[in-house]
Amino acid sequence: MSTTTQRPHAVIYDTDPGVDDAMALYYALAHPDIELLGVTTTFGNVTVDQAATNALYLLALAGRADIPVTRGAAAPLVKHAEAPPAHIHGADGLGNLPQRQRFDNRLDPRSSAQFIVDMARARPGEITLVPVGPLGNLALALEIEPRLPQLLRAVVLMGGAVLEPGNVSPVAEANIWNDPHAADRVFCAGFPLTMVGLDVTHQVILPVALFAEMAAHHQHPAMHTLHHAVDFYAGFYSGLYPHVAQIHGCFGHDVLAFVALTDPQLFEYESGAVRVAVDGLAQGQTMLRRKTISYPQSGWEGPASRACMQVQAQACKDLIKTTLMRDWIRP
Ligand code: BDR
Ligand code: CA
Repeated sequence: MSTTTQRPHAVIYDTDPGVDDAMALYYALAHPDIELLGVTTTFGNVTVDQAATNALYLLALAGRADIPVTRGAAAPLVKHAEAPPAHIHGADGLGNLPQRQRFDNRLDPRSSAQFIVDMARARPGEITLVPVGPLGNLALALEIEPRLPQLLRAVVLMGGAVLEPGNVSPVAEANIWNDPHAADRVFCAGFPLTMVGLDVTHQVILPVALFAEMAAHHQHPAMHTLHHAVDFYAGFYSGLYPHVAQIHGCFGHDVLAFVALTDPQLFEYESGAVRVAVDGLAQGQTMLRRKTISYPQSGWEGPASRACMQVQAQACKDLIKTTLMRDWIRP
């Protein structure tokens, strides 16, 4: 058995890179307990084509062109697509990189949904899916394979908000709002599911200086690229929140899904059925059933999810730094 197959967490990473997606990808590659089996892409922060290009590029830069990348959902299941948020992640999703190196890794020809299903069938009960974008790929995978909740070991997703206000409306978080119908199907499907939402990601502010320090340590194009992207992204968040501007930083959103996977003890949780408002002013709101009272309307009988409500922020920052400071980039 090779060293990589002994890693405790075999993961498929479902993503729309995206600056914090890139951060999370490099955390996953760097972490000794994670075996990254594939990267499945979706629209979201950028178009799905740009997301797939960015995933291939980030992997190639880090010397991990061996990891398969697929192209997935190009639009929400039901609602119309919105323009990607170029002001947050850059028009290219990576903070408008001034240039890119050549790379020659190519897409796996399967759709993201088919890749998830194929891998789950091949390794039943072993794989954790970490989705950090709109949930269309997982909803489509459920259509292909309704037994997916039994075939995957767990789903640890970044998305939603229970008590914290939303970031695209007073109640909606961006990933859920981007495809609320897909999200509601996923929450109702019966996965062993952990939701890492704004309740915790808004508690962890990562300073750009941390990424400058890590880039200086590695002196490698992969970390220089991440530093550039984070600097752009922090400009957006610092413009929005004075307490973030004070340290010129950003929220790490997606990387916290991986932190919740590798270090679940850093979080406090509440469990209950989660439903998503699919239309109206509250579209994209994630609602957690907090008590087992019998509500007058139906719809709350479904499976329970686990929502992260509190986090040890300093411990997360330390862990992210220790992990990315490791000697993880391959030549
Ligand atoms: C989520 O939305 C995207 O902009 C980020 O990549 C993250 O997945 C935060 O709301
Ligand atoms: Ca994302």
